[in-house]
Formats: sequence, structure tokens, C-alpha cells
Amino acid sequence: MKILFLNGPNLNLLGTREPEKYGRMTLAEIEAKVRERAVRLGAEIDFRQSNLEGQLVDWIQQAKDKFQVIVINAAAYTHTSIALRDAIAGVGVPTIEIHLSNVHAREEFRHKSLIAPVCRGQITGFGPLSYLLALEAAVSGN
Ligand code: DQA
Repeated sequence: MKILFLNGPNLNLLGTREPEKYGRMTLAEIEAKVRERAVRLGAEIDFRQSNLEGQLVDWIQQAKDKFQVIVINAAAYTHTSIALRDAIAGVGVPTIEIHLSNVHAREEFRHKSLIAPVCRGQITGFGPLSYLLALEAAVSGN
């Protein structure tokens, strides 16, 4: 099975970005962990990051018929992007929302996810483990 991991804005800065909230692991290190686990689970993954909302929309649209599941850390776009929500709803590829930090334990503007209603579920607050839990969910749920 093929799983597409998408990462939104500022996640390229992981490692040095607000480490007290997001930890010290870089996105490349998280990707390496996901790849290692994916091999064990027999899943094929594609792992991407963009700071651009439109690029993320394009990737979601292109996932149709190519990927069985999308795992997305939409970062700040989680809380603002109707375009991402519509793309997820429009392509119909089962999508899992993830976050490193527990968005519900943070500022009120992070409590609202515009994409949550069109996702299969949300994994939030487990640091890099959120990515691995989503991978497990993706493989088990299909
Ligand atoms: C985040 C949480 C978002 O609120 C924030 O804008 C991010 C990262 C997380 O992984 O904890 O950029 O998605």
C-alpha cells in the first residue's frame, strides 16, 4: 500500500523551531523513522513538505488513484485553510490529520481544525510518534 505524508508550513524548520513545543528532531529525522517503520509494515511512502498552500492542494489532488491514504500535518493551515479541506473532501482519499504538539492544549485559535471534519481521525500531541501512530492507523485501517 502507498501512503502520502504531507507536511505544511514551517515544518522544514523542525529541529531548531521552538524546540520546547516541537522537540529537537528534524523533519528529515522524522522521515527516516517513518521510512524504517514503513519497511517493516510493508508500506511504501512518499514524504513531502511545502510552505505553500496551493502546492499542498495540488499534491492532495494528485494523490487520487495513486495513494491509498494521506497523512497530513497541515501545520498552521490546519486552522485556516478551506482550500485544503475542500481538496481532502474532493479527492476522497482517506486522510489522517496529525500534529506534533497537542493543539487542544495550546492557544484557542489552534483548537479549531478546518480539516478535521473531512479526515478519518486526528492524532495530536505525541511528537514524532504522531507520525508513526498515523502510519500504523493507515496500514491497519485499509
Ligand atoms: C502543528 C500545530 C499547529 O498549530 C502549528 O501551526 C504548526 C505545527 C504541530 O505539529 O504541532 O505549525 O501542526
